[in-house]
Amino acid sequence: MTRRTLALAAALAVAGAVPAAAQEPSGSATLSISGAGAKGLGAPESVALPVLRGSLSSSATIQHEGKLRLKAGRRSVTLTRLRTTIGARSTVTAILRDRRRTIFTITGGRRSTDAAKGTVTVRGARLTLTKAAGQQLRKALRLRRTPRGRFGTVSLTATLPKGSGAPTGGAGTSPSAPGSSGGGTPTSVAPTAPVPQLDRPAGAVDVAASSVQWHVRESFIRYINTGEGTSVADGASALPPTVRPGSDASLHYDFAYAPAGGWFDPATGQGKLQFKGRLRFLYSDHGIDLSAHDPEVQLGGDPLSTFRFTGGLDTNPGDRRADLIRLDVAKARAVTTSPDGRTRTYEQVPGRLTKNGSGLLGNGIYAEGDEFGWMTISVTTP
Ligand code: HEM
Repeated sequence: MTRRTLALAAALAVAGAVPAAAQEPSGSATLSISGAGAKGLGAPESVALPVLRGSLSSSATIQHEGKLRLKAGRRSVTLTRLRTTIGARSTVTAILRDRRRTIFTITGGRRSTDAAKGTVTVRGARLTLTKAAGQQLRKALRLRRTPRGRFGTVSLTATLPKGSGAPTGGAGTSPSAPGSSGGGTPTSVAPTAPVPQLDRPAGAVDVAASSVQWHVRESFIRYINTGEGTSVADGASALPPTVRPGSDASLHYDFAYAPAGGWFDPATGQGKLQFKGRLRFLYSDHGIDLSAHDPEVQLGGDPLSTFRFTGGLDTNPGDRRADLIRLDVAKARAVTTSPDGRTRTYEQVPGRLTKNGSGLLGNGIYAEGDEFGWMTISVTTP
């Protein structure tokens, strides 16, 4: 089975509706390029974009193969991972300058959708460059003016798996998935809520040593490992792989980051511990390339772990710090203190996704408060 058929089979399995013969996505979109918006962008007259996958419910979302290369003088820019949505608002989105953006709106033309057959056709609809995409093209190609207006027309024929409202990476139009983007905005939602800060109490001391082990949610690790998987850098390390219930595969579920200081107040149990390193989750076929760097663990108050995030493809939050996991210290497997009283260990503290966490990683599948593995944290005072 190809990865594509695997993903499709999985999507159907999740939807709980596996027809006897799963329908392979097929078809193609043709962009015929002519119009003021395309002037001076060196676009080909016509671009064929075969259908890679898609879903059809109240609207159709189609992920295409192929690229659109634009150029001006010696500069060029390539739009990749093009995705068409045909529905109440119809658009073409693509990765342009590291981020998914709405490139064109689709208006007019003749359209028909046959939900029973799983077919979508569009004939001669207008493609108009969005203002935001025009501005990005101007920057990328160092144009003197912002291209705008009519870019050409699009015709499309697609046969899609019927009624698959399953997660399709924002390509999905499942109405039950809050936060699913319908293809217009990045699938991974950039963090918005500020990180709650903990003030250092008077009795706090700089830590002498610390450690953190992160056991990432097992289903997420298995999912990412159907792509390229996880990798570590800059001081993070992968602990030995293990076999866990639900899969025979021996996978890296556990990671450690290198200590980088912090403070702790033994009297109140409050503390803030910094760590260094990078853990990358990569599944390029699904548009996932997210790295969690340099965690900071807050103990006491509202125990949280925050990370600096960077990413690419459909998961590009920019370079910023956000909280990911709320730590439920009361449910730790154990909290122990060493005989000399200097080292406190919080063993297997269950983690739940924060709002930012579900936006960054959940793709409308994990909600705020869903479990996301556990952390074992130790802190030693002088
Ligand atoms: C082309 C894009 C994508 C496709 C076709 C896709 C497809 C799927 C499918 C079929 C599943 C369920 C079955 C499985 O475990 O393999 C799934 C699960 C999931 N996807 Fe995606 N996905 C895409 C993009 C994304 C993106 C951008 C994210 C954001 C991080 C994401 C996050 C998730 C999560 C969190 C799960 C649940 C994993 C679990 O705990 O089982 N996906 N996806």
